[in-house]
Amino acid sequence: MSCSISRLQEALARFDVNRVRGEFPVLSRRMGKHPLTFLDSGASAQKPLAVIERINRYYSEEHANIHRGVYRLSEQATLAYEHARERIARFLNAPETREVIFTRGATESVNLVAATWGRANLRAGDEILLTGMEHHANIVPWQMVAEQTGAVIRVVPVTPAGELDLDAFRSLLSPRTKFFGCVHVSNALGTINPVETLVREAKAVGATVLIDGAQAVAHFVPDVQAIGCDFYVFSGHKLFGPTGIGVLWGRADLLNAMPPYQGGGDMIKKVDFDGTTYREIPERFEAGTPHISGAIGLGVAADYFAALQPAAHAYEDALLEYAVEKLTAIPGLRLVGTAQRKVAVCSFLLGDIHPHDVGTMLDADGIAVRTGHHCAMPLMKTLGIPGTVRASMAFYNTTEDIDRLAVSLERIRKMF
Ligand code: ALA
Repeated sequence: MSCSISRLQEALARFDVNRVRGEFPVLSRRMGKHPLTFLDSGASAQKPLAVIERINRYYSEEHANIHRGVYRLSEQATLAYEHARERIARFLNAPETREVIFTRGATESVNLVAATWGRANLRAGDEILLTGMEHHANIVPWQMVAEQTGAVIRVVPVTPAGELDLDAFRSLLSPRTKFFGCVHVSNALGTINPVETLVREAKAVGATVLIDGAQAVAHFVPDVQAIGCDFYVFSGHKLFGPTGIGVLWGRADLLNAMPPYQGGGDMIKKVDFDGTTYREIPERFEAGTPHISGAIGLGVAADYFAALQPAAHAYEDALLEYAVEKLTAIPGLRLVGTAQRKVAVCSFLLGDIHPHDVGTMLDADGIAVRTGHHCAMPLMKTLGIPGTVRASMAFYNTTEDIDRLAVSLERIRKMF
C-alpha cells in the first residue's frame, strides 16, 4: 500500500468526508453527463447547509436594519450581527471583539489599512516591504499609497520552490521598514509562510505588519495573538461563507488611532456642518448599512469550519500527498510550487499546453480548476511562466476527485 493511501485511511478514520460532502448541496450537481469535480475552492469555497439555512432564516424571519431601530425585530437583527462579530473574534483568538471590522472582503480590508494607516503614517523614503508571492490585493493598494506618500516598495524574493528567501528578507529589514505585508498562504502555490518568525523579525525593526489570511482561513484556524501581527485580513467566501463580506482584524490601539475610511451613517458621533466627530471601533469603519446577512452567515461558517478541525486539516494533508503522487506520475506534468509546508493546492503545467486550454478541456469532463496568473503576476514573472493550472482542494474533496482529474489530464496529454 502506498504511503499516501495508508495516511489517507488513518485520516478518514477521524474524518467522515462523505457525511461532510452531504452538507454541501452543490457538490452533488452534475455538469452535463459528468459529476461536478470542484477543485477551485481557492477561488471561492462552496457553502454548507448550515450557512445557507441560517441566511434563509435571517431573511425569512429576522431582517431589519441594525443599530437604528427601537423595535424588537431590529434589536434581534442587531444582536445576530454583533453575535457574528463575537464568533469571528473567537475564531481568530482576537483579544477584543471590537477589533473585528466587517468589510466587503480581504481586498477592501487591505485597501482600508493602506488608505488610512498608510496615508497617515508613511512618509517619503519610508519602506513598504512586501513579498514576491503577494496577491494583487496586497500589492496594488500599497503602490497607490506609495505614490501618494513617496514611500518606496521593497520585495522579498521567492525561491524556485515557491518559498520566501528568508536571508533576503532579513537583509531587507531596516529601521526604514515601516510596514511589512505578507500573505499567510500563497493563493497560487499553496505555500504556508512562517508568519510567526516573519512578524517577530519585522516588528523588531519597528514595522507595522499585516497578514493576508485569505487562503489560510480555508485550511486552518489562525491565531492572531500567536502570529503577533497588527492586522489580519480575510474574505468570507473563502471560509465557506457568503460573498461580499470579509474581515479586518486589527489591534484596538492602532485601529482607533487611524482616520476613518468611508464616511456615512453609523460611523459618526455627531455631524454638524461645522465639523463631524467619529465613533470608536468597530463602528468607526463600518459606514452605512452593512452586509448583515453576510456577517451572520460568516459567523456560522467560521464555527462550522472550526468544529471540523483538526481532523479536516489532517485529511486535507493526506489528500494533498495523494494528489501529488497521482499528478507527478503523469508524463510531462510539472508541479509549480513545492514548498515544504503547503496547503492542499497543486499548481502545475502540462507539457507546453496553455493552462487555459487545459482548464477548458477539464471543464468538458466536469472538472473545475482555475487557470492563469491567479492575480499573482509578479510571482509568475519570477517563475518565468505565464500562469498555471491550479487544483485547489478543500476538506470536501475526495480521492475520486483527484482520480478523475488525473484521468482527464492523461486524456488531454494524449490529444497534443
Ligand atoms: N484570489 C482568488 C484566487 O486565488 C480569487 O483564485
